[in-house]
This record gives sequence, structure tokens and C-alpha cells, in this order.
Amino acid sequence: MTISNNQPLKVGIAGLGRLGKRHAEQLAFRTRGAQLVSACSPVTAELAWARDELGVGVLHEDFDAFVRDPQLDAVVLVTPTSLHADQTIAALQAGKHVFVEKPLALNVADCERVEQVARRHPELVAMVGFVRRFDPSYVRAQADIVAGAIGRPFLVRSQTCDRNDPDGFFVRFAPTSGGIFMDCSVHDIDLARWMLGKPRATRVFASGTIALHEGLRPIGDVDNGMAIVEFEGGQRAMLYASRTFAHGHDTQTEIVGTAGQLLVGQGGARDRIVTSDARGTSFQAVADFFERFGVAFERELQAFVASCRGEQTMPLELADATEATRIGLAITRSLHSGQMELV
Ligand code: NAI
Repeated sequence: MTISNNQPLKVGIAGLGRLGKRHAEQLAFRTRGAQLVSACSPVTAELAWARDELGVGVLHEDFDAFVRDPQLDAVVLVTPTSLHADQTIAALQAGKHVFVEKPLALNVADCERVEQVARRHPELVAMVGFVRRFDPSYVRAQADIVAGAIGRPFLVRSQTCDRNDPDGFFVRFAPTSGGIFMDCSVHDIDLARWMLGKPRATRVFASGTIALHEGLRPIGDVDNGMAIVEFEGGQRAMLYASRTFAHGHDTQTEIVGTAGQLLVGQGGARDRIVTSDARGTSFQAVADFFERFGVAFERELQAFVASCRGEQTMPLELADATEATRIGLAITRSLHSGQMELV
């Protein structure tokens, strides 16, 4: 479906929680070529927020009614991960372009079901929210690697580490998130594949520990997890995810090649200011992933809308999301088994 240039893409959003509200604000006020026309949530207060703060006219508590609305061209799904696959399929079958948050699903069969339906609708955009693909620093790093800046890349060391949240939002969120590797490291897995030229993963080994949040133990999750991923052809990735950092949100990635290395996001630095005084030299860290990836979130939705309007092609495919889930699940199995696992 190509939208004529003078008509906005009519978008609906499902899920108005922590991230959904941010996406909704962006679609309502800051995304060129898009008009946010409807919202869906089972929570009345969230719908009232969309109406009062964003002026959204059509509100749905029921997802099926939302997705079938004939005026919609596209939907943005920011719902719990366990719902992503079925909701994406329902949207494609209703003839809507879909942006769905990561991860695409918590099992490979569900990812493949989505891919199958998407193949039957080549006229529709189906995009998974791997936001780092739109972060200016990661975009430049990947382009530099392709241009040969560090020779042949063979190792990615990547971490996603959140500042400790004493309220434990993520402990309540954990039962539907798939655990720390599916929720956090899935970004690093996608980055590693992207930076290394999409090699096939073969084996993984993972370990983890609970440093602070005992509430994770009954569901088999950890608040600090580490993993090694082996790829066919010799490339390797070392991943680390934490929910308990003291200083801030610290996402950083090092890509090592035969002729150099790149480091993206060193120390989780908030800006370019480094202070030196009697106590030493220091810089401030970003508070959370919104602050770190604000620009990337904007560019990501802008790219989705531009793709739906036929103005650009999507730089990532559903198959990338399936691979990220496949690797993330193997890592999670390894965490539980204590053994190396085949991917
Ligand atoms: P959340 O729990 O704050 O929000 C979930 C929302 O979905 C709530 O508004 C809830 O009312 C709504 N919801 C529940 N069932 C629904 C249904 N059947 N139909 C429509 N809406 C429904 O969760 P959060 O943190 O906003 O995460 C949502 C998704 O976004 C998750 O899949 C998560 O992995 C992803 N995410 C991605 C990030 C990134 O870096 N790209 C960062 C944070 C979250």
C-alpha cells in the first residue's frame, strides 16, 4: 500500500504503558507524514490519557475491534511481548502495516508464523523495533565496518545495563518479558549479527546471578546475566545484561576487528562534558534507555512511516528478529541448564 504524498498515514497504537506512551506522543506530535487516529488498551486510564493529552479520537478496549478499523493504514504494537506474534498476524491479516516492539516472540515457531503471514502480504511493511539500528552512533559504526575501517570484525562485546530500580518494575514485568536475555540482550544479539555481517550462530553458553532482586528467583530469571555466542566462521560475541547498575543506564558495545576496534557508548556518558576537579575526573551517565536512545526511537518510527508511505525500504527484516529470538532462547536454555546449548 503506497500512501499519496499529501495524505497522512493513519496510525493506531496498541499498548500505552512505559514505552507505548512515548511512541504515542511521538506519533501524535513529531512524526512526519503520520496521524495518530486511534489507541487501544485494556486500561481505561491509559485510554483517557490518549484522549486528553494527545487528542486521539478513537479509543478501543478490544484489540480485535481496534485492528479491524477500516480507516487505519498502520498499527504500532507496544503491548506485552507474549502478545506480539498473534497481534502482528491479526494486523497483517486485516491489511495493516505493522510496527511491533522487540522481541517479536518468545518462541521460534511464533516468529516463523509471523514470517509466513508477512510473506503472503508483501505489500505491507512488518517491522520489529530493534531501536539501536537507528541510533546515529551504531549506524556510523556499522557503516565504518562495512567500509573496512577495522579490517575483518571477529568479536563483539556488548552490554545492556540498566540503573537499579528499587521499585522493581521489571520484576513485575519479568513473567511476560522472557527473562533478562530475551528482554535486554536481544538488542545486543541483533547488534552482534548486524556488526558481524549476519553469521549463523551455532553454540552458546550463559551464566547469571541475582545480585539484588530475589523476586526473580521463583520465575528462573536473574538480574545480571552473561553469555558467549559462537558463530559459524569463527566470530564470537560476549554479552552482558544487568538490572542493578548504580551509576545509570550503561549500554556500550565494542567491535574488534583485524585492523582496529570501535567502541560505541563508552561508560554510558550522557554528553560530551568531562569534569576534572580536586576529586578527580568524571562524567555523568545517562539515566535510562529513553535518554540514551531518544533520537533512535524518533528515527525508528520515522523510518517505519516512511517505509509504509513507500518512501524508503526497511533496513531490517523479520528474519533478523527470528534469529535474535532463536539465539536469545538458546542463551536462556543455557542459563537454566548450566550447559553449552546448540542454537
Ligand atoms: P508495559 O507493561 O508498561 O506496557 C504494556 C501495555 O500494553 C500497557 O499499556 C497495557 O495496558 C497494554 N496491554 C496489555 N494487554 C493488551 C492488549 N491485549 N491489547 C492492547 N494493549 C494491551 O510494558 P512496556 O515496558 O511499555 O513494554 C512493552 C513492549 O515494549 C515489550 O514488548 C517490551 O519488550 C518493549 N520495550 C522495548 C524497548 C526497546 O528498547 N525497544 C524498551 C522497553 C520496552
